[in-house]
Amino acid sequence: MTTAGVRDLVISPMSAEDIGCVHAIETASFTVPWSEALFLAELGNTLSRPMVARCAGAIVGYLCASLVIDEGHILDLAVHPSYRGQGIARSLMAETLEHMKLQGCSSVFLEVRASHAAVIRFYEQCGFAVTQTRICYYVSPIDDAAIMVRSFEPQETPRPAATENDKPLKERDRGGDQ
Ligand SMILES: CC(C)(COP(=O)(O)OP(=O)(O)OC[C@H]1O[C@@H](n2cnc3c(N)ncnc32)[C@H](O)[C@@H]1OP(=O)(O)O)[C@@H](O)C(=O)NCCC(=O)NCCS
Repeated sequence: MTTAGVRDLVISPMSAEDIGCVHAIETASFTVPWSEALFLAELGNTLSRPMVARCAGAIVGYLCASLVIDEGHILDLAVHPSYRGQGIARSLMAETLEHMKLQGCSSVFLEVRASHAAVIRFYEQCGFAVTQTRICYYVSPIDDAAIMVRSFEPQETPRPAATENDKPLKERDRGGDQ
């Protein structure tokens, strides 16, 4: 998939060869980064969908998400510090949410440091809303987690035409009361 925003941004599935670059962005982005082994495990997890964003061939960001039945979970998202503020995270999120919606997902949730007001605003722009707080969820530094959820509208399913049997029992039997 190619998206607008940064010129020539391409979003595609993460592969084992990408993990070195992904991990370098991860360590530049988080105080408690995922290990390379954790990213590798995501590649082998059939419920997970790790994606990378490339700009002129170089990996500039990634998003790991999972889908269990109809519930999506955004597990990890980061953009290379030199490429931030150009819509790359927004493109990664849009691509993932669209895929989940097509898979019949009804809601997606994520955890974010409660003190990261700017990141929370970013997720709000993506349609998420804070639903609850988990006290002291994060370490280094200790922080609460804001749980954010984005719900999808249920699919409109046409109602079958009403038949005599669909009427409430009382209404059906009314003729017999007279
Ligand atoms: C959060 C992060 C992924 C955003 O990536 P990005 O590519 O810079 O985000 P985008 O350019 O798509 O931003 C989309 C919107 O969010 C806003 N935004 C995103 N991160 C922001 C930040 N740190 N400060 C202020 N605004 C921010 C942008 O201003 C933009 O809004 P606008 O279009 O109205 O200007 C990136 O800052 C990052 O990797 N941070 C470190 C890791 C992290 O915190 N990940 C989230 C874990 S829950």
